Amino acid sequence: MFIAFEGIDGCGKSTLLQLIAERLRAEGRDPLCVREPGSTPLGERVREALLDPATGELTAWTEVCLFTACRAEMVWTQIRPALDAGRDVLLDRYFYSTLAYQAYGQGADLEATWKLQLEAVEGLLPDLVLLPDVTEEVATARRRDGDDRMEAKGRDFLARVRVGFMELARKDAERWCVLDGAAAPEVVAAAGWDAVTAKM
Ligand code: TYD
Repeated sequence: MFIAFEGIDGCGKSTLLQLIAERLRAEGRDPLCVREPGSTPLGERVREALLDPATGELTAWTEVCLFTACRAEMVWTQIRPALDAGRDVLLDRYFYSTLAYQAYGQGADLEATWKLQLEAVEGLLPDLVLLPDVTEEVATARRRDGDDRMEAKGRDFLARVRVGFMELARKDAERWCVLDGAAAPEVVAAAGWDAVTAKM
């Protein structure tokens, strides 16, 4: 199984990923858990630059290219080998984040961004996308540490990103499962696990 976890900052997707990973391990499976941007030497370095407020403003396409470069590297060095070896892969953000943040959020052309994503990953789509959905208000209230460069873009930006995720989910409803991210972590995880087992 290749499962992507998506959603706005503070929606709880990383906690959900950990809980789903635990359930898979309890079933005797050995999931590879990776995050974007990151999880390769290049990815971690670019992640630092992208999240550092000192980097300042970047154009939407600069961000698209940087996130996508990290993604291509990760797909080829980590994800494909793991899937080929028969392992499950749990991915904290995939190219849907680029569509939501850089296209819906920042105005990069949606069609062109889609095209680039499919090229970069050679059409590798996840079996399932889990989207814990919360309002911008709930997400912002949950974040305790200071804002990184992406989080400093503000609440209106986050609202556009959230609409983007919901639209992506609506257009590909077979692959996506929208969860109530405002519920308790175990409740979100139980609903997420139902979606996982339905695909197994
Ligand atoms: P994330 O790892 O979820 O942040 P955190 O460690 O704070 O939980 O994601 C990093 C940020 O990068 C997040 O604000 C979303 C953003 N992002 C994009 O804008 N485009 C992308 O393609 C990806 C993968 C992330």
